[in-house]
Amino acid sequence: MVCALLFLTACGASGEAEKTIGIAMPSKALERWEKDGDYMVETFKELGYQTDIQYAQDQVPTQVSQIENMITKGVDVIVIASIDGEALTDVVEKAKGQDIPVIAYDRLIMNAEGIDYYATFDNFGVGVLQGNYIVDSLELDHQAGPFNIELFGGAPDDNNARFFYNGALSVLQPYIDAGTLIVKSGQTEFSRIAIQNWDGATAQARMDNLLSGNYTEDQVDAVLAPNDAVAMGIVSSLRSVGYGSNDRPMPVITGQDAETASVKSIIEGGQSMTVFKDTQQLADVTAQMVDQMLKGEEVTVNDHETYDNNVKVVPTNLLIPIAVDIQNYQEILIDSGYLAASDIE
Ligand code: BGC
Repeated sequence: MVCALLFLTACGASGEAEKTIGIAMPSKALERWEKDGDYMVETFKELGYQTDIQYAQDQVPTQVSQIENMITKGVDVIVIASIDGEALTDVVEKAKGQDIPVIAYDRLIMNAEGIDYYATFDNFGVGVLQGNYIVDSLELDHQAGPFNIELFGGAPDDNNARFFYNGALSVLQPYIDAGTLIVKSGQTEFSRIAIQNWDGATAQARMDNLLSGNYTEDQVDAVLAPNDAVAMGIVSSLRSVGYGSNDRPMPVITGQDAETASVKSIIEGGQSMTVFKDTQQLADVTAQMVDQMLKGEEVTVNDHETYDNNVKVVPTNLLIPIAVDIQNYQEILIDSGYLAASDIE
């Protein structure tokens, strides 16, 4: 009887058309976005969904037209990791007009009513981990210093970048105010320290300038880098003027993403730390949220106040980032299977 009813109402697996999830990703320039994408495709498949995944080579118009295509094809939900969080207002409103729910993935999409949910890591928390790492490594609570620090921020069009910076400064500012930390360049405004596109080469060029302008006599003791791509540019710049030797040790350098190149650098004594955000966990949580939405169930979120996109506070599922350095990379990244031992040889 139950079976017959299921069959008649087309609820059975064979009777129901498969739903398709559109996934719009920024680019393959960073390892993490490829992992995010692969995990999502895999997880959606396990849950019985088809996927249409597109990467946009960090080109905003490409991303917009990819999302427009998804709308035209009539996908059932769209998951978007935006390139420029301010540039998708119209296309997200178009999706809303077609009753296609949208989830912002990792990066918030601004000025859009049509964002239903947001899944990300605690972005302010990422900055706090970076700031705390600098405080602990330089033992700022026990040493008077002063120590020299330079500050870098992420892409200004990525809403996350300010959260990272504000999180880090929430820890570092008291030491700057007390004179224990000195920003010799004087560059602390977000607009001055931000790196367009999170581009490593741009970061390297800025570090070259900071070093030649402020550190011909003095040493830099710490560099706040928002992610691994930026950190790697900074490491190259420092090495090119002789940092990383016995008489000129590397400063403390932060990062984020646990990219293979940065984990190798941590092992070799270049970059000091990274912040690990398990992309598999984020992909899982997102897939679960989509599944809940499509089944009309309550969607798991744990934050109703932090992420205001200028038109609404977007209900968010926030995950916890983890600081990783030479002490714990084996346990957190290798033993967990996130990276293979052979990746970092
Ligand atoms: C992400 C970081 C990433 C950066 C550059 C940010 O929005 O949260 O994980 O390093 O973009 O792609």
